[in-house]
Amino acid sequence: MKFSKVLILDFGSQVTKLIARNIRELNVYCEIIPYKTSYKKILDENPDCIILSGSPASIHDKKAPIFDKELLNSKIPILGICYGAQLLSKLFNSDVKKSKIREFGPAKLKKIKNDKILSKIPNKSISWMSHGDTIFKLGSKLQTLAKSEFGSIAIFKHKTKKIYGTQFHPEVVHTSFGKQFISNFLFIISNCKNNWKPGKLIKNKVEEIKQKVGNKKVISAISGGVDSSVSSVLVARAVGNKLSSFIVDTGLMRKDEVKLILPNLKKLGVKPKIIDGSKLFFKKLKGVKNPERKRKIIGKTFIELFEIEAKKSKAEFLVQGTLYPDVIESVSISGPSAVIKSHHNVGGLPKKMNLSLIEPLRDLFKDEVRVLGKSLGIEKDLIGRHPFPGPGLAIRILGEVTPERVKILQEADSIYVNILKEKNLYDIIWQAFCVLIPIKTVGVMGDERTYENTIAIRAVNSTDGMTASWSRIPYDVLDLISSEIINSVKGINKVVFDISNKPPSTIEWE
Ligand code: XMP
Repeated sequence: MKFSKVLILDFGSQVTKLIARNIRELNVYCEIIPYKTSYKKILDENPDCIILSGSPASIHDKKAPIFDKELLNSKIPILGICYGAQLLSKLFNSDVKKSKIREFGPAKLKKIKNDKILSKIPNKSISWMSHGDTIFKLGSKLQTLAKSEFGSIAIFKHKTKKIYGTQFHPEVVHTSFGKQFISNFLFIISNCKNNWKPGKLIKNKVEEIKQKVGNKKVISAISGGVDSSVSSVLVARAVGNKLSSFIVDTGLMRKDEVKLILPNLKKLGVKPKIIDGSKLFFKKLKGVKNPERKRKIIGKTFIELFEIEAKKSKAEFLVQGTLYPDVIESVSISGPSAVIKSHHNVGGLPKKMNLSLIEPLRDLFKDEVRVLGKSLGIEKDLIGRHPFPGPGLAIRILGEVTPERVKILQEADSIYVNILKEKNLYDIIWQAFCVLIPIKTVGVMGDERTYENTIAIRAVNSTDGMTASWSRIPYDVLDLISSEIINSVKGINKVVFDISNKPPSTIEWE
C-alpha cells in the first residue's frame, strides 16, 4: 500500500522533531532528512510535499545551510518554517535583514489575503514567533498572506507555484492554529491522504524481516520494556523459532517484572529463556556508589552474559528496539551533545560480534510503537508500561546497591504505581517511579522512635524524555501514596515528592 509521504529537511532547529510528530498525528507518514540531501535522492523518495525546518543559523552567515536548489524547479509543494521561510524568500529575491530586536513570543496574526492555506484559521489567532532575521520586502514572485500584529511578514506564498513560507512556528503548541495550518498544507495544498497507521505496517515489516533473515538465526534480549517486547513479537511473527530470545534477570528489575511479561509474550510466540544473573550483578556492584561506575559495571556485565547467549544461539542477526527519535538524533546537523549520563542500551553493544541489526521500529515514535504493539495483540498492561532504564533500579538507589535495598525500592515502587493506576493517573503520566535516598531521619511509629530511609517519588510529563515537567499529582493522591508506603514498607519513614523539571534536572536521579 502506498502511504502519502512528507520529507522534512532538517536545518538543525530544536523543534524539528515536533514538525514530524504533528504530521504523524495527522496520520501522514513523514521522515526527517539532512538539509543537504540531493535533489535526485529526494525524487527517489517520491514525497508528496517538503517542509524546510527552522535553524539556529542565520541566512546571513557565510556558511548558511542551503538545500539543493534544483528542488525549486520541481512541482513538489514546499513549506518553509522560520529559517526555511527566510531562505525561500531570499532565493526569490526578497529583502531579509537582521532585525534590531528579536521577535520572540506570542503575536496575533493579521490576515492580508485569503488563501487555502489559511482555511479555518481565524483572524487574530495567536502565533508563536522566534526569529532574529526578518523578511522586510518580498521578491516580485511572492505575495504576503498574513502579517504579525507588529507588521512583519508572517506568511507568504509564491504567486504561481505551491511554495509557502511562515515566519511563525506552527509546530509548537503555543501557536493556537498550528495543527490546522499544517493540516491545510498537507491535505489541501499537497493532496496528502491521511492513510498512515502504525498497525498497517505489520504485514510489510513481517515480510521485510523474513526476506532479510532467510534461513539464518536471530537473537533478541528482552528488557521488560515496550520497545524490546514489540520488536521481538514482530520478529517472532516473521521468523518463528529461528528467533531465540532471553531475559537477563539482573535482580534490578521492577517487582515481579518477569512474571508479569512472560505469559503474554509466550502467547505471541516469543519464548524467552530466563537467565538469572542477579547474584553476579550484586557481586560486581558491591561497595560501588558512583553512578557512572554503576552504569559501566552493569553494561559490561550485561555484555558478558549476552555474548555467552549469542554464541550458543549461533545467531547472525540481533533485534534492536531503536526508535525514530534516536535515528533523528543521528541525522541532525547539530554537533554531538555533551554526555550527561552514559546510557546503557541492550542493542548497539556487540559491535565486535559481527551481528547484523534488525530494527523494526526505527521509523516509529514511542506512541506509535504502542499502537503497533496493540495491533500485534500485546496486552495493554505491557504496552502501556512506563519507560525503564537499562541499568534498572541500580540508578534509583543512591549509594550502594544491595538486595535488601532493591527489595525496599521494589515494594515502594509497586505501591506507588498501583495507586496511580487505581486513580487513573498512570496512563497520563509519562514516567513515574520511586528513588531510595540513603538519608536516615527520625520518625515516630506508634510509641516507637524510628530512624529510617527516605523515598522520593518522581512523576513526569514528557513526549520523548528529552524534556520533562513534573506531574501535578493531586494532594489527596500524594497523601495516600505517602501513608501506604510508610505503613507497608519496612525501612521507610519519610516520603518526599520531586518537583524538578528537565532541564535543568534529569528524569532519573543518577
Ligand atoms: P534522563 O535521566 O537522562 O532520562 O533524563 C531520560 C529517559 O531515559 C531513560 N534512561 C535510560 N534508558 N538506558 C535506557 O535505556 C539508560 O541507561 C537510561 N538512563 C536513563 C530514563 O528512564 C528516562 O525515560
